[in-house]
Amino acid sequence: MDAFVVRANGPLSGTVRVCGATKNAGLKQVAAALLAPGVTLLRNLHPVLDLDAMLDVMRAIGAGAEWTGENELTIDASGPLTPEAPYELVTRMRASINVLGPLLARCGEARVAMPGGDNIGSRKLDMHFRGLQAMGADLEIVHGLIEARCRTLCGARIVLDFPSVGATENLLTAAVLAKGQTVLDNAAREPEISDLAAFLNRMGAQISGAGSSTIEVDGVESLTPIENEVMGDRIEAGTILMACGVAGGEVTVEGTRLDHLEMVALKLGEMGLDVSPTPDGLTARCDERMHAVDVATLPYPGFATDFMPLVVALLATVVGSAIVTENVFDNRFGFVDELHRMGADIRNEGRHAVVRGVDRLSGAPVRAQDVRAGAALVVAGLAADGETRVLDPYHVDRGYPDLAGQLHALGADVRRVRPPA
Ligand code: EPU
Repeated sequence: MDAFVVRANGPLSGTVRVCGATKNAGLKQVAAALLAPGVTLLRNLHPVLDLDAMLDVMRAIGAGAEWTGENELTIDASGPLTPEAPYELVTRMRASINVLGPLLARCGEARVAMPGGDNIGSRKLDMHFRGLQAMGADLEIVHGLIEARCRTLCGARIVLDFPSVGATENLLTAAVLAKGQTVLDNAAREPEISDLAAFLNRMGAQISGAGSSTIEVDGVESLTPIENEVMGDRIEAGTILMACGVAGGEVTVEGTRLDHLEMVALKLGEMGLDVSPTPDGLTARCDERMHAVDVATLPYPGFATDFMPLVVALLATVVGSAIVTENVFDNRFGFVDELHRMGADIRNEGRHAVVRGVDRLSGAPVRAQDVRAGAALVVAGLAADGETRVLDPYHVDRGYPDLAGQLHALGADVRRVRPPA
């Protein structure tokens, strides 16, 4: 059966290298490549399911998308483009909404299916729409399609109600070719935004302030395709830290930056996992069972919501009780029932969960419901008696190229089993 199969195997030890941030940074750069007529080359991308879906979107739009080397992808946006992302593709992967800004900027029109909600919350798009309208776009929803058009996009001052990652990205990629200056206030500050802005600037865009709450964009006439290396995956790095917290041991993670993981390192430090920087990443060590600390998720540089299921899995195994509050998504605790199957003591109500650490989890068949929840179940299995089978592993495959291989390299007993071909 298709699953991750996990057994506790003592403390972790060794060194792993994280992959590129394909899901949370790479997909956005693939979409942004539509802005530059010609051939863009992206390095440090890894095959994950969400990238497959994004490449299908690109091909539907009329852009070429080919692997041209190991972890090296070529996007040919020479044109002509068909500015349409159909429902079947958009529902496979929400980040297809990221083509809206680039298509409007490049083609003056876009038809992108509404993605709808998903397993972690309602995931509205109102800020994307209001921002594009402020730049002069006409938008309407017709038969489930966002139909957007504009004669000319014009720079505008846009204040986001909440520092949405997706809205910041869409507005940034629309603003780079708009007439005049755009000021984005209350913008998301995630490192993936800075990585996108640096990519766009190298293509000829004029963006300043990315990584802060105020981003200024001076529109330019055109962008030129370039070669770019996508940042290392901080969420994957954090997942390995959480695994080290659950299993104990000492691990070195290469290809990431501790300053991208400051709040996670701080919290894990309070819980008993020492994290320190190395020249190419970080190292973490945990000598004894960790203890509980309250956690509340917030936009960057706060504790990322993507680590919430992982930290709940960790807290389920430590000494003491903690309150976990989810402030970013409205429905991200669905995985708690799966942890209950493993003997976890968690009470969840609305945006809060009280997690009481137990002496030992017990392995069980459990089901992944989204990418991070699935990873959290794999990590929980590292401290469970007997075998844990994480079913619906494709959720994990959406964002992690080889989570089992990485944990295995650190001594964990984790296998990704697949049905016979
Ligand atoms: N929101 C609105 N209106 C909008 C946009 C967002 O109300 O117009 C709300 C959402 O409903 C949500 C909150 O704002 O409650 C945050 O949404 P955001 O737009 O920041 O998230 P996103 O762009 O849809 C990306 C990542 C998520 C990550 C979030 C937050 C990708 C492909 N997805 O989603 O990644 O959790 O930012 O950092 O980059 C994951 O990796 O597991 C994952 C879900």
